[in-house]
Amino acid sequence: MKGIYPSKEFVLSANVRDPAIYSRASENWIEFWEDFARELEWFEPWYSFLDDSRAPFYRFFVGGKINACYNCVDRHAEKKNKAAIIWEGENGESRIITYYQLYREVNALSSALKELGVKQGSKVALYLPNLAEAVIAMLACARIGATHIYIFEGFSAKSAAYRLKDSRAEFLITADGYFRRGRLINLKEKADEACDEYGKIKKVIVVRRAKNEVSMVEDRDHWYHDLLSKKNTSPEVLDSNHPLFIMYTSGSTAEPKGIVHSTGGYLVHVYATSKMVLDLKPDDIIWTTASLGWITGHSYGVYGPLAVGATTLLYEGAPDHPDICRIFDIIEKYGVTVFYTVPTLARMINGCDISGYDLSSLRLIGSVGEPIDPETWSWLYGELGRKKIPLVNTWWQTETGGHVLSQIPALTPMKPASVGKALPGIEVDIIDDGGKKVKPFEIGNLVIKKPFPGIMLEINGDTSSYIKFYWTKYGKRVYFTGDSAYMDDEGHIWIVGRVDDVINISGHRVSLIELEHAVMEIPDIREVAAVGLPDRVKGSAIALFVVSSNPGKEVAEKITEKIERDIGKIAHPALIVFTPELPRAGGKILRRAIYEAVVNKKVSSVVSNPDSVEKLTKLKPSDR
Ligand code: WTA
Repeated sequence: MKGIYPSKEFVLSANVRDPAIYSRASENWIEFWEDFARELEWFEPWYSFLDDSRAPFYRFFVGGKINACYNCVDRHAEKKNKAAIIWEGENGESRIITYYQLYREVNALSSALKELGVKQGSKVALYLPNLAEAVIAMLACARIGATHIYIFEGFSAKSAAYRLKDSRAEFLITADGYFRRGRLINLKEKADEACDEYGKIKKVIVVRRAKNEVSMVEDRDHWYHDLLSKKNTSPEVLDSNHPLFIMYTSGSTAEPKGIVHSTGGYLVHVYATSKMVLDLKPDDIIWTTASLGWITGHSYGVYGPLAVGATTLLYEGAPDHPDICRIFDIIEKYGVTVFYTVPTLARMINGCDISGYDLSSLRLIGSVGEPIDPETWSWLYGELGRKKIPLVNTWWQTETGGHVLSQIPALTPMKPASVGKALPGIEVDIIDDGGKKVKPFEIGNLVIKKPFPGIMLEINGDTSSYIKFYWTKYGKRVYFTGDSAYMDDEGHIWIVGRVDDVINISGHRVSLIELEHAVMEIPDIREVAAVGLPDRVKGSAIALFVVSSNPGKEVAEKITEKIERDIGKIAHPALIVFTPELPRAGGKILRRAIYEAVVNKKVSSVVSNPDSVEKLTKLKPSDR
């Protein structure tokens, strides 16, 4: 397949346009990353680029002293007329915060946090919707060396409590409520429930957003705006490997894993890739549509864009409220230049009539989070991008902190739905289970052969899982991504999907094991298998196959309720099927056989009880 080259106009103004960057990075790997690192400000330089003596616990920029907030805020604060954050609420309210105002407010919150007892090394949970205050809270934590733990606002109280407990958070910043599809959601109530379940939160700070009635616990709860003082707080001089944040993500276990990221290595990685891949410059307005509560929001909604000194746009609510045109309204209204989104949203806008909008400010589109189908790719490139601007398809993970595979827009020709190549400074391969490189177009396991600055420090409190999940299949020097992929004869890569029990719903990782555990806690359930079925809009949808002593509507409702309560609305099952038994091989439940039966109408030959799936092959789409 021939690739599509970006326009000359784009190439001439791109941050990276010399193809020698690839060879330079592989010949002089350390210098390549150190050059980016030197564009940031360090209080003290590092004495070693990488310490790999305790592999697979890799430490970058060893000895370096840095502060992420200083690099994202103070460095640009002199530009008093420059917007750092553009915020739009679902109800149409909007707020523009300059770098100077951001500097002031981050300082004010930092000193308030200190007065409440937050110190270097404290853990501060943020249970907040996409508000400017959420970015301010992240940066204030970074400023004083507290580690932030962002909990996506859509998660249930139980999910939040798990994250508070696992991270041992002592402080919580939340909001009274927020708007979603025109409805007011009482977040404080969920936050209170989570605090009660965990029991160890000392102080709660509440942002006034929706002005809904909430109850405040005396001595524990404080209004955000009442706390702000006029004092400045100098940024802490932090070790490069000081934990900046913990981000929870699903893996092939029942419990989410707390991925811990460093300060220096992480910031260098997101800064470098914001420049190389998203081509960000200080003049840009980037709209990263992901919620701040996911890694994409952290890396390319906050730390990357602000480290570059660009403007980041935050939108509070549902992108299709009041209708899907909201997306184009926002791009047009603010003159968004870089639109970084997920295929689920792209599939929703695919086919919209955009002839009435002036979207000419757009100069780059990015996609992330799940495989994109060629049809949606073509719409994004051909219609939204008018075949004039590059579309980068970025592959990475919570664990990698920033981009790993992508086109470099001015250099790598685009091939529909491909994720391009490994970025300079990163080496990947596609290998079989025995570790042998597969041939072009053959599917194998995607691995990263060398550590890189954005790689996580560890899984919070779980050394053995960290080693087991990522560094056991191919040893301590080769990172196993959990994704399968193939490469064409020119080295361009396509992602096929996960190889483990994790599915991707609208770009969000959901663990099938976690789901099954939640369902098994319902008394009438004997057995359950959760399977991801293909879904045109969301990528995957959850189907549950259930053996129950009391099959029927009542139990189905209990299941849906339980999942929403334990995990959140994101995991809402699209299909619940009661079945007398589940397919097995050697005693083990075979989820793959259920998928084969429902989607491909085939009875897998390895199933020891074929009757169990026979019926499922006859399931009609209307039953689903
Ligand atoms: C998937 C999101 C195809 C992949 C940044 C990966 C993708 C998981 C792409 C990580 C892409 C991410 N094309 N699949 N461009 N980007 N993925 O941790 O399966 O939420 O392992 O990080 O999303 O999801 P996570």
